[in-house]
Amino acid sequence: MSLVRVHNFSISLDGFGAGEPQSLETPFGHAGQRLHGWMMATRFWDPATGGAGVDDVFAERHSIGIGAEIMGANKFGPPGWQDDTDWRGWWGPNPPFHTPTYVLTHRPRPSLEMEGGTTFHFLDASPAEALAVATEAAGDLDVRLGGGATTIREFLTAGLVDHLHLVQVPIVLGRGTRLWDGLEALEDTYDVEAVSSPSGVVHLTLARRAATSA
Ligand SMILES: NC(=O)c1ccc[n+]([C@@H]2O[C@H](COP(=O)([O-])OP(=O)(O)OC[C@H]3O[C@@H](n4cnc5c(N)ncnc54)[C@H](OP(=O)(O)O)[C@@H]3O)[C@@H](O)[C@H]2O)c1
Repeated sequence: MSLVRVHNFSISLDGFGAGEPQSLETPFGHAGQRLHGWMMATRFWDPATGGAGVDDVFAERHSIGIGAEIMGANKFGPPGWQDDTDWRGWWGPNPPFHTPTYVLTHRPRPSLEMEGGTTFHFLDASPAEALAVATEAAGDLDVRLGGGATTIREFLTAGLVDHLHLVQVPIVLGRGTRLWDGLEALEDTYDVEAVSSPSGVVHLTLARRAATSA
């Protein structure tokens, strides 16, 4: 059965997945690159200079066995991208998804076929409806939930996430979009593991117990 997986989602100690304000110049707001410094130092990110330690082992699982991605509108572009008919995402002509990629937005537009197997589809749909479409597209493979925090929280609330890999970065952001707001007692339905990396980040894995799967 196809799983819903989150990988490499970085949060601050106080649970923020992005700072503020988000803009074209500052996609992560005042967080800058601090949430992702750990990943940029991996071989997964840069095969030429990256390290192959604990962080790399976790990071590379991002790409394994994935047949579709779902992301939120604020991951796809800065506020107001819906008004720019030329906006094609942050990632250039060959985005790093290489699968059908479903962007949840209240202002959908026609699909965009990119190089390398990525096609962006724009959906105004509930999490369950979007997941049904993405699961169909993924075939036997899993669906990655790419973030941001708002979208992951929405899917967690709906009970639709099977595997959640978070990377807790030792910074305090104080403001931005927070993952945990409104969520409670996930430990009752997920097995939670933590692995400390020498880099200073902590890899948290929440794996939904089989008996509680939807
Ligand atoms: N920390 C990390 O590892 C990580 C990973 C990915 C992204 N990010 C960052 O996180 C930030 C974005 O996160 P975010 O929490 O602000 O937003 P988000 O989850 O990317 O997007 C939320 C928006 O998506 C649309 N949406 C969500 N569910 C929907 C539904 N069911 N139907 C229709 N539209 C729906 C709505 O936008 P509209 O109403 O405007 O259509 C909503 O405001 C960006 O800065 C991004 O760079 C961080």
